[in-house]
Amino acid sequence: MTASLLIKHAAQVVTSRGASAKPLVGESLGRIEVIDDGAVAVSGEKITAVGPTAEVMEQVETDRQTKVIDATGKVVLPGLVDPHTHVVFGGSREHELSLKLQGVPYLEILARGGGILSSVEATRSASSDQLVERGIKYCRQMLVQGTTTAEAKSGYGLSTEAELKILRAVQQVAKAQPVDLVPTFLGAHAVPKEFKGDPDRYLKLVIEEMLPQVVEGKLACYCDVFCEEGVFSVEQSRRVLTAARAAGLGLKLHADEIVPLGGAELAAELGAVSADHLLAVSDRGIEKMAAAGVIAVLLPGTTFYLREGHYAPARRMIEAGVPVALATDFNPGSSPNNNLQLVINIACLYLRMTPAETINSITINAAHALGRAALIGSLEENKAADLVIFDAPNYDYLAYRYGTNLVETVVKNGAVVVEGGLVD
Ligand code: NIG
Ligand code: FE
Repeated sequence: MTASLLIKHAAQVVTSRGASAKPLVGESLGRIEVIDDGAVAVSGEKITAVGPTAEVMEQVETDRQTKVIDATGKVVLPGLVDPHTHVVFGGSREHELSLKLQGVPYLEILARGGGILSSVEATRSASSDQLVERGIKYCRQMLVQGTTTAEAKSGYGLSTEAELKILRAVQQVAKAQPVDLVPTFLGAHAVPKEFKGDPDRYLKLVIEEMLPQVVEGKLACYCDVFCEEGVFSVEQSRRVLTAARAAGLGLKLHADEIVPLGGAELAAELGAVSADHLLAVSDRGIEKMAAAGVIAVLLPGTTFYLREGHYAPARRMIEAGVPVALATDFNPGSSPNNNLQLVINIACLYLRMTPAETINSITINAAHALGRAALIGSLEENKAADLVIFDAPNYDYLAYRYGTNLVETVVKNGAVVVEGGLVD
């Protein structure tokens, strides 16, 4: 078959291949296939060949229409996958930074009606068009930083109308720009002010009114809950997630971030695809997640930004056989960062992960955390042609440099969508 795109002579092609059926665990997380002087051939939307340049050139035909990119001195990676974001929201929360610097704790800001609840106000009062416009802007920022697929949670509406507005905006944002979005319903993100002091009455609305409409409208693939002291208990989270599972959604959970409530254990009990955050996860929670194959989506950028002081026990989880993925948690409060390259840096420095482990955690394991590993997350034949060319001589360089966007070219479904570091 004639190639529509051929990338050749890359200093390194890092494939993350061979793990589409199951996420990488334990030592395998740190093993990564690196092809020196590598090439990737693409035909239409799919990858047709990956290997040393000389071999790929022998296998594939090219013609005058083939776009050829010489990647000499550069690194090629699978398109990055960000499996935990809250990318559609109104307003911003820069005013909370000074409160934080004065030492007011995150949950205290929320209890005072700020935090998530102030983003809820701003999201409710934003029009759909405004949400879509902002969502497109944030997705383009992600794209130029190498992200080609991201999760997108609701959760700043907290009324039926506003939650549906967000999820419909997610659909529109996904259609309007190249980053694929996987939608998650997070109606149980906080108790809105109309239900203050009565979380159970609010959860009745989530379960009986919002969830059926979300499912009916095919507006979400997953359901998530913020299981945390002062937000939703394990028992309340179980109620929401059990109903969501019965309605056909996959499950995720904001678990054991600040207080060790037992969110990891709950995620394992219910067969959730992932449990996220996990700074305060217990040993028992780790064991249960490993046994059930629940992916730990770690969000070290959030820990850094909240100055939580201690990071999720990534090494213990990897050693115990828990599959690990990494994400930005992009949101207006605890993580106003949508750059996965920065997450690589923080994960290496503070989660003590190796560069290879971090790359597998934002490619193939992240794709598993979104149920998309058959299609994306690695460079291999017949997968979607989503890839990134970094201006870096080797993949270690990505972990070493920080604060500079090293992305030069992004290809999404076979189309060059970022060139020279700029959106095409
Ligand atoms: O994942 N933890 C709960 N939700 C978000 C924070 C949302 C916010 O502060 O607006 C998170 O960190
Ligand atoms: Fe989050």
